[in-house]
Amino acid sequence: MFRASGSQDIATARAGTNIAFIKYWGVADPELNLPLSNSISMTLASAVTTTTVRWDTRANMYMDEVTIDGETLFGDKASRVVRHLDYIRELAGGVPFRAKVVSQNNFPMASGIASSASGFAALTVAACAAIGLRVEKDRLSAIARRGSGSARRSIFGGFVEWEQGREDNSSVAHQLYPEEHWNLRDVIVVVDSNSKHVSSQRGHVLAATSPFNVARIDRLFSVLQEVRTAIATCDLDRLGPIIERDALAMHGVMMTSNPSLIYWQPATVEVIKAVRRWRDEDNLRAYFTIDAGPNVHIICEPSTEPEILLRLKELSCVEKVITSGPGPEPELLKHHLIK
Ligand code: DP6
Repeated sequence: MFRASGSQDIATARAGTNIAFIKYWGVADPELNLPLSNSISMTLASAVTTTTVRWDTRANMYMDEVTIDGETLFGDKASRVVRHLDYIRELAGGVPFRAKVVSQNNFPMASGIASSASGFAALTVAACAAIGLRVEKDRLSAIARRGSGSARRSIFGGFVEWEQGREDNSSVAHQLYPEEHWNLRDVIVVVDSNSKHVSSQRGHVLAATSPFNVARIDRLFSVLQEVRTAIATCDLDRLGPIIERDALAMHGVMMTSNPSLIYWQPATVEVIKAVRRWRDEDNLRAYFTIDAGPNVHIICEPSTEPEILLRLKELSCVEKVITSGPGPEPELLKHHLIK
């Protein structure tokens, strides 16, 4: 349980984003963010969001103030955060307080590195603690899901499964294994750090318009079992081909939605092909996956990581590389981003 920090009104939380091995794509209920299938991910140690929330209990503010990565957001840009604060105000008994929120990512936002997963996980933990809401992790994870589906998984560390569920209470996430279980590496290849043109929220709704959506979901039951076994036995060569196929299947659904969504750039394909070439020709054990953006996550073991980093230096399309292993659940910090 994350304990509330007394009557301080301010709290700061740090949460890792996560990389999905089996993706959450498509919603059964867009209001509650109920998915069409289970998903499995690894919470990351080094791609994190730190968020401070200070509730204005003296009622000096007339609106919420949201600053992310140094930019103060207004109107539509702030509305997703404000909506989440509204939900937390309601859970706290309908308190009228506005809040100041300052958030810092250590990686580019909205570019297929799930900043909203770590963002809404950190926001939920900090906002609940600062307002004095004492909630179990399961509940916290359900609250985070309202902000962003994948944030639900970032409330847990290590390897995490989110059960589809049929309603708010049964759509729960849980840890499969803690971060110490397997030092799997995620080499995040940033080929484009601009914001994505269509949000995942919109994409989830469009998924149902693809003729391939049902086919992908139907196969997932056995695929999820394979992934659980691969993680249980720390077997990269079993995990890798499955996660590549699911990433391609999800992007197939995106591309064949109506309207069609193409998140990839030419550089995305260049990195995919390079990973396959390195594997086929040089036995380099590395596999790719891609979330809703153009950037490629290369999944490997620590022994192969230096060679991958070296080879990525030769690809001119690569803007930046971030590396991470599995990380812990969100943490409350003593140091705040608001003075
Ligand atoms: C492709 O609805 O969680 O990353 O809130 O915009 O980050 P944002 O997205 P969310 O969908 C994430 C979709 C995905 C796959 C996944 O993380 O499972």
